[in-house]
Amino acid sequence: MSGIEVRVLADETAVAAAAAGMCAAWLRRRPNAVLGLATGSTPVPTYSELVRMHREEGLSFAQARTFNLDEYFGLSGEHEQSYRFFMQQHLFNHVDVRPYNTFLFDGTVPDPEQECLAFEAKIRALGGVDLWLLGIGGNGHIAFNEPGSDPESRSRVVAPNPETVAANSRYFAHPSLVPQLALTVGLATISEGRSIALLATGAQKAATVARAVEGPCSPDCPASLLQNHPDCAFLLDQAAASHLTARVSRERS
Ligand code: F6R
Repeated sequence: MSGIEVRVLADETAVAAAAAGMCAAWLRRRPNAVLGLATGSTPVPTYSELVRMHREEGLSFAQARTFNLDEYFGLSGEHEQSYRFFMQQHLFNHVDVRPYNTFLFDGTVPDPEQECLAFEAKIRALGGVDLWLLGIGGNGHIAFNEPGSDPESRSRVVAPNPETVAANSRYFAHPSLVPQLALTVGLATISEGRSIALLATGAQKAATVARAVEGPCSPDCPASLLQNHPDCAFLLDQAAASHLTARVSRERS
């Protein structure tokens, strides 16, 4: 039986409000909470909502610590397609988070394996991640953990699948410019988070969401491994929830 809590919300805006609300709840309960963050198009409205809450409601990130799921190998933080650049642009530049408390893999290091070990050590040193915000790839990947990834995997260097490279090429001037290697946290790193919120919006995610929630718990669909997590919620808009067959309550918002 899947342990995933499914929350079906009216639309993308409601998903963003729910996800930002979960981050805010952690920060209010524990001002130095450790947030795990994703890039990609799905969480952009969530980051906008967090910026709004910071400006209008005084939500403070002054003591927060953040870890990101992944980064391209070979791109510096100044590169417009790096995940560091994305985070600065969508969140970090607009809230009071301290730069020294924001942790992303450095894609320019000479020894990326060592960078992965150091990243895991840093997560442990800060007491673990309180809340991971995740997106989901069309093939069920979470972070850059592609189908077949070991459930016990840790941070490591990976070669994203061709379909993932193709999907991500929409951000690059030419598909050949998409880095072929990335640094990613592992499935074990994610599953050790105290809580997890996976966000999915749009009809193009519906079949994958159904596999993750209602399909077998298997590395063939890495997001389905979240079925074993004790505190995991999927925050979905109506379209992303449209292939779920079980009765799910649809929230008014
Ligand atoms: C990004 C990440 C990826 C994305 C996934 C969905 O940090 O870890 O797994 O969450 O590829 O991307 P979008 O949201 O662009 O559909």
